[in-house]
Amino acid sequence: MRERLDESIYWDPRHYEAHNAALTERDLPFLLRRAAEYGGPILELACGAGRLSVPLAAAGYQVVGLDLTTSLLEYSAERAREEGVAERLELIEADVRRFDLGRLFPLIVYPFNAVTHLHDYRDVLACLRRVRAHLAPEGRFLLDLLNPKITDFARDPAEVHREHSYPDPDGAGEVVVWESSRYDRATQLNHITWSYDIGDRRGVFERKLTMRQFYPQELRALLDCAGLAVERLWGDYDDSPFTAESPKQLALCTANRR
Ligand SMILES: C[S@@+](CC[C@H](N)C(=O)[O-])C[C@H]1O[C@@H](n2cnc3c(N)ncnc32)[C@H](O)[C@@H]1O
Repeated sequence: MRERLDESIYWDPRHYEAHNAALTERDLPFLLRRAAEYGGPILELACGAGRLSVPLAAAGYQVVGLDLTTSLLEYSAERAREEGVAERLELIEADVRRFDLGRLFPLIVYPFNAVTHLHDYRDVLACLRRVRAHLAPEGRFLLDLLNPKITDFARDPAEVHREHSYPDPDGAGEVVVWESSRYDRATQLNHITWSYDIGDRRGVFERKLTMRQFYPQELRALLDCAGLAVERLWGDYDDSPFTAESPKQLALCTANRR
């Protein structure tokens, strides 16, 4: 079954890349350290525009990238060809809740909060069970998530704040992204709107993103239900341990042996 993702932030991979360039300087080295520890082939869930899978392939790992957005997979494939790593990057159009690749992986990664696209806990469980089914014996699963900060969700939906800025990929000056959000405490969904100024043009695009929040104990319970256990938990990409103040939950999981 082909599925469309109801998120508009992925409309242009070049903007997506430019928006996240500073992040790549932080999360890619973190992933490369895990790859050095556990080896490949590496399965990247929700690989998007290849922001991480292409450099992982360039570092010499065999990578399988899975995503359901055709345009992003096409962009990844082109990038892999341009960088001469196409033979090390296999791209698969599939849904993280239903994939069946018929092989096992020593390392499965699900970077950059992508699991927050799964809004219902049953979808999360379906995905984690697919992960469990694809883990090699002694394999590891790395899940990268925000550590939800309650004060971020207490914002007035009418309040707009500057989220980020980056150089326009078409050379039209600085892109400034303004964010407003509405958090629903019943569903744990944060409904985010980004408005883009480009150079001196205001509100050139408006994009929507809905991120489900995962609280630390809830995350462990979901992993446990899917047969996965947290072996190591970091709080940021510098390998610092997880604390109440950590911006991230970076959970390295094994198959649960109980
Ligand atoms: C935050 S991006 C992450 C992309 C990439 N991993 C990165 O770090 O730049 C989220 C990605 O999740 C993909 N996605 C969302 N729901 C999905 C699903 N159910 N199955 C497969 N991919 C999904 C989107 O197409 C998008 O490429």
